[in-house]
Amino acid sequence: MPRRPPLPPSDLPDWPIGDPAAPLASGTVRVWLWSLAASDSADERLLSADEIDRANRFHFGEDRTHFVAARCGLRRLLAGATGRAADQVAFRYHGLGKPSVADGGVWFNLSHSAGVALAALSVDGELGADVEAVRPTNWAGGIAERYFSPAEVDELKAEPAELQDRAFFRFWTNKEAVVKLLGSGLGFPLPTFTTPLNAEAGAAVALPENPLELPECWVRSLPSGPVLQSAIATPAAADRVELYRLPAGG
Ligand SMILES: CC(C)(COP(=O)(O)OP(=O)(O)OC[C@H]1O[C@@H](n2cnc3c(N)ncnc32)[C@H](O)[C@@H]1OP(=O)(O)O)[C@@H](O)C(=O)NCCC(=O)NCCS
Repeated sequence: MPRRPPLPPSDLPDWPIGDPAAPLASGTVRVWLWSLAASDSADERLLSADEIDRANRFHFGEDRTHFVAARCGLRRLLAGATGRAADQVAFRYHGLGKPSVADGGVWFNLSHSAGVALAALSVDGELGADVEAVRPTNWAGGIAERYFSPAEVDELKAEPAELQDRAFFRFWTNKEAVVKLLGSGLGFPLPTFTTPLNAEAGAAVALPENPLELPECWVRSLPSGPVLQSAIATPAAADRVELYRLPAGG
């Protein structure tokens, strides 16, 4: 998706501040949100040499700042979940770039958009997450047909005009969360599966052939305030989904 201006921290939803070190139980997905614009959110010393190398390859300074702040926040969360120091968390990368904790034991997926990061954590296995800032989108120019299933396109077009941008990003975040669960990326044939427009309570989604060999997965869209839209995807329904903001310094 194209570049967009960072959101002011005041546009983040009013999720409570959480404790990254609180024990994470099986059956729970814990989702974290933080602003990448806050000046105290990044400490480059937490990053590994390959992360610094990646940061230094960004063309725009703002992208570099956001990448560093996202990785610092993620490291603080994983430190809380693993008991390691934040700079001692090691990642490994799967075929199409999906990162995971090298030692296992806790799984995560990270997403960032418009100066905001969202990370979902679980001790039960792989998951996917996506956050987007809702904005006017010329989806009628073929984007919807390229990425959405015929049923999703029909539902999008049936929405009242003033709700269509929100509906576009409901489907978009649902679907990106699913392909991020699979680790497949946007090269996956997105029109081959259908997600619900309203997935606040969570819903099963039937999947075509995929690298995890899942016949279906579970998608849930998260209450993200008037500006953001976000969703998570997991192999099966979670018993509990917790939503938190990362404390300052995160
Ligand atoms: C995974 C992908 C959908 C993410 O798109 P994006 O617009 O950058 O979205 P997000 O901000 O939600 O996610 C980025 C984060 O997802 C994670 N990620 C990277 N590759 C991933 C993958 N294959 N599966 C799941 N998560 C992945 C990373 O943590 C990344 O953040 P980081 O680079 O700061 O660590 C996209 O990069 C992709 O398709 N990658 C696969 C490679 C590929 O097929 N590229 C061609 C695209 S047509």
